[in-house]
Amino acid sequence: MAKKRTVHACQSCGAQHPQWHGRCPDCGAWDSLVEETYVATPSSATAPGVKGFGSPGRPSAGLAALVPAADDQKPRRLSEISPEANPRLASGSKELDRVLGGGFVPGSVVLLGGDPGIGKSTLALQVAGRLAASGQSVLYVSGEESGEQIRLRAERLPGLGGALQILTATRVEALAEPWRDLAPSLVVVDSIQTIQTDSVESAAGSVAQVRESASQLAATAKRAGSILLLVGHVTKDGSLAGPRVLEHLVDVVLTFEGDRAHAFRLLRASKNRFGSTEEIGVYKMASHGLEAVENPSEHFLEERSTRAPGSCVVPLLEGSRPMLVELQALVAPAPYGTPRRTTLGLEDARVALLLAVLERRSSIDMLSQDVYAKAAGGVRVAEPAADLGIALAIASSRLDLAVPADTAAIGEVGLAGEVRRVSRVDVRLAEAGRLGFRRLLVPAVCAREMVSRRKKGRSPTAKNDCELVPIEEVAQAIDWLRENGRASEQDGRS
Ligand code: TYD
Ligand code: MG
Repeated sequence: MAKKRTVHACQSCGAQHPQWHGRCPDCGAWDSLVEETYVATPSSATAPGVKGFGSPGRPSAGLAALVPAADDQKPRRLSEISPEANPRLASGSKELDRVLGGGFVPGSVVLLGGDPGIGKSTLALQVAGRLAASGQSVLYVSGEESGEQIRLRAERLPGLGGALQILTATRVEALAEPWRDLAPSLVVVDSIQTIQTDSVESAAGSVAQVRESASQLAATAKRAGSILLLVGHVTKDGSLAGPRVLEHLVDVVLTFEGDRAHAFRLLRASKNRFGSTEEIGVYKMASHGLEAVENPSEHFLEERSTRAPGSCVVPLLEGSRPMLVELQALVAPAPYGTPRRTTLGLEDARVALLLAVLERRSSIDMLSQDVYAKAAGGVRVAEPAADLGIALAIASSRLDLAVPADTAAIGEVGLAGEVRRVSRVDVRLAEAGRLGFRRLLVPAVCAREMVSRRKKGRSPTAKNDCELVPIEEVAQAIDWLRENGRASEQDGRS
């Protein structure tokens, strides 16, 4: 009979302990230890060790032992290894390739995480389908949807062809035969939380199952030289389930984010062993699947109203990619005692802070006013460089003066009202210039640096005809708005 062993695994950090504790000794989470039973089968020299009993996190052999290795693994000199021997495999999606650093690396394990309904399965199916259509052998394993449901989804997605191999399975062991027979260059597992292995007795989705299944799949991918794309759900607290358990096991961690009510989606790498984590991919969810958005700025400014007060465009940076985003504010007299402050896509604390700075450092009364502020298009703005733009949008609505349509602003605002340096002004300026902006309000330090760099001829954007307006203090930006802003046209109409 197979030997059983019981451990207590923390559902938060994945640590295993021989006894139960009220609080995990490793990560300090309360009431997170759950009893899990491992079955030691002869083929699995795999049951992960318990602290003091063996070695935790050892790669598992279960599934890997059943799949032939791509090549023999003898030590080689570094100089004998050709970097071109394993060329990257283009995924068929330029945005994904950009985030991966130029395509999939054969034998690598990629984890794609995100909220439910954000479009992970759609992206995975599009990539798998396109690769299959280009002649690669691709296996799509779904533990969530039936073959018919996948077919229905595929009908909506153009360019998939019919060559993709679909397997609906919830057991790791069921992958052995197709993996051996098809020798796939890409295996998609959607999702890792629905897959379980016989060598662990706890329910699918528990930390023990997720870790053990993922490590068996990863070991198999490395052995067979297949690319493994694991789709993973995000837990309520925003981390990939099981948190920290999968991240060290995979080569690339991608997160797919966005607001489900909007079409806009961002793909980022929070870990990438083969490339930069600075690159991001931008997509739009359409009726026929995910579309790449090559010019996100144009997408965001499409519906901009250039006449109304309370709006300011900000050239933000996502990774290394500039993106013009419209920030909007609406200021109205507060009918009740305590004024309301409501934000969408912006941090509450940041807006509250800017209101206090505006109140104290410029002569605008904000105390008796309700303030609503948002980033248009479902973007979430985290960069402090957006401060000056938020302040201008708020002041613009309060003063009923529209920021000129050809003007954008960038700068971090300090509590003393000073406008502080931001990074990569050249990239932001170039993007603003490209989209027809003629003026960019920038921190005065940055303006001085840009000017001296232009004089030395070191600035690649020297030909850009977007003018820099240096700003030292937030009050100076408000004065600029008073001089250059356009009064609301409502006055003229009424
Ligand atoms: P899905 O890929 O199932 O999300 P996940 O796997 O991350 O849970 O995406 C589901 C959403 O995408 C669903 O709300 C419908 C929408 N969608 C489209 O808008 N267009 C499409 O072509 C497809 C396939 C889905
Ligand atoms: Mg899904």
